[in-house]
Amino acid sequence: MRLGLLTSGGDCAGLNAVIRAVVRRAVLGHGWQVFGIRQASHGLLSRPVDATELTPDSVAGVLNLGGTLLGTTNRDNPFAYPSRDGPRTDRSAVVAAGYHELRLDALIGVGGDGSLSILRRLAELGGWNLVGIPKTIDNDVRHTEHAIGFNSAVAIATEAVDRLHVTAASHSRVMVLEVMGRDAGHIALAAGVAGGADVILIPEIPYTMAAICAKVEERRRQGRSFSIVVVAESVRGPAGETITYMDAHGQSRYGGIGALIAQEIAVHTGAETRVTVLGHVQRGGAPAPLDRVLASAFGVYAVDLVAAGRYDRMVAWQNRRVVDVPIAEAIAHYHAVDPDDALVHTARGLGIAFGDEVGRD
Ligand code: F6P
Repeated sequence: MRLGLLTSGGDCAGLNAVIRAVVRRAVLGHGWQVFGIRQASHGLLSRPVDATELTPDSVAGVLNLGGTLLGTTNRDNPFAYPSRDGPRTDRSAVVAAGYHELRLDALIGVGGDGSLSILRRLAELGGWNLVGIPKTIDNDVRHTEHAIGFNSAVAIATEAVDRLHVTAASHSRVMVLEVMGRDAGHIALAAGVAGGADVILIPEIPYTMAAICAKVEERRRQGRSFSIVVVAESVRGPAGETITYMDAHGQSRYGGIGALIAQEIAVHTGAETRVTVLGHVQRGGAPAPLDRVLASAFGVYAVDLVAAGRYDRMVAWQNRRVVDVPIAEAIAHYHAVDPDDALVHTARGLGIAFGDEVGRD
């Protein structure tokens, strides 16, 4: 059995742990060969295919390393592949053929919803036997309580909130922390609760500046001269506008909402404000223990799905155990925070504001 393995989409902590788990289970448990494909679909587009055989020895010592030893990309969709000067072209047939060039019997793809949906289209096109493993700091893949990388990102964001607390208190400032999460507010919500933020702003709950400022003023009246605001990167501006910018490659990116919120709070309350944009710090570094556990469990289970001939499935974490679901269902649409989610209720119960309080009762 020749098993392919690739990591696709934005990197996160825990990818090397999942590579290690797949290799150990496939080689030691089943006696198969594993081929790690470099740079996701780029590796399958190259000729010869850019891949390397992975062995338990070659993946020894990577469990606690951030990044991915296989490399990855979150650009260059093979169905609309950018060329330097001309229009985008469809390179999907070449990528799909790369699987057969490597004479693979099955492929395990580790990715978020975007990557898994591209891999699934390639699998259909090329007749691949595909199993998916969810990873994304955004935690926005459906049917799994956790995706690899989320818990590490939350740990980093929580540490940032802890650090901001002390400097905010020293200077009597309002500190705004902008965190990642793409279109979902999972990181902001979890880190805001874990770090004891005063205000959490997520795209799923519309806010008003009046409500945010009321929270800051209320704390002042209670003798608290500082406040901590955690804001998810995709939260809209006070007038409901999307806060994005265009990068040099013509891609629209989130960024800037933290500065805007900090500015508005300063104007309306007179508070001294500062903003921290955590950015890719949330993706690097050693994986948190829960991500290592998840990556290990997902890797073993995914290989066993291949052994059972159960393809087009994604491994998932539900009720403290690994299960598998159809990839199609997992990627049908992204998983946002439910405004009625238990953690939202917990936060409200703790007195954390979401900016929708004015006129709420
Ligand atoms: O999807 C993961 C993520 O880190 C998002 O939270 C963020 O919006 C995006 O990727 C950043 O992408 P890039 O690595 O291209 O800057």
